[in-house]
Amino acid sequence: MNNENKIEEEFIEKGFFQFVIEDRVSLDQLRQEVLSFSSDPIDNLSTIHQKISTSDINNYRMDMIRKINAKEDLREKYYQLGKTHLDIIVGNELAIQKNINLSIQMPGDETSTMALHRDCEAGNSPFEVVLWIPLTDSFASNSIQMQARNEGQLKALTVPYGNGLVFSHSLLHGNLVNKESKTRVSINLRFKSLWAPYGNKGLGESFLPLNMKAATRIGIEYES
Ligand SMILES: [Fe+2]
Repeated sequence: MNNENKIEEEFIEKGFFQFVIEDRVSLDQLRQEVLSFSSDPIDNLSTIHQKISTSDINNYRMDMIRKINAKEDLREKYYQLGKTHLDIIVGNELAIQKNINLSIQMPGDETSTMALHRDCEAGNSPFEVVLWIPLTDSFASNSIQMQARNEGQLKALTVPYGNGLVFSHSLLHGNLVNKESKTRVSINLRFKSLWAPYGNKGLGESFLPLNMKAATRIGIEYES
């Protein structure tokens, strides 16, 4: 079995796949860029809680998200960090979610928890996957909790900084109150095959075409 087959097989078995991001330099640059958007100067995302209070964290997060999404090139840079695995798991003609999302889980913050859910049950297409990349070490209660396809139990995924995760949001997932002493910061963005069925997040509204192969371009020109 070659490496691509192994990745596909593991993804089908578990519903997620964790990998080491090959281009560490670009990941570090992305993290620096996110740090530069902080309204309060910080040099370490995992200690944000020393500067920002629980009552301010959502406004702080929304301000960061606005600045991240104002930089159009960040979506493409983010895709490049997971491209090898997205291409294997989803395909090479992809649609990309328009807006990048940022999650911040500070120790003891009960206001930022995300109840367990499957996005598909809210009308999202089961053909979508999430590229989830932590900008801090993600572990135990500060990490994402997920139920693998082949397991009955919900588990905290240990995803160190430097790794990425592709998961199907048909899996039960969410997060708990962070009982660790470090804040977790992560980015998530959805991808799907350009041609697979869409849910309530449609092409043009929530998703944009990311790449089209030559034959598709000819086909589209011919039809229009
Ligand atoms: Fe979700």
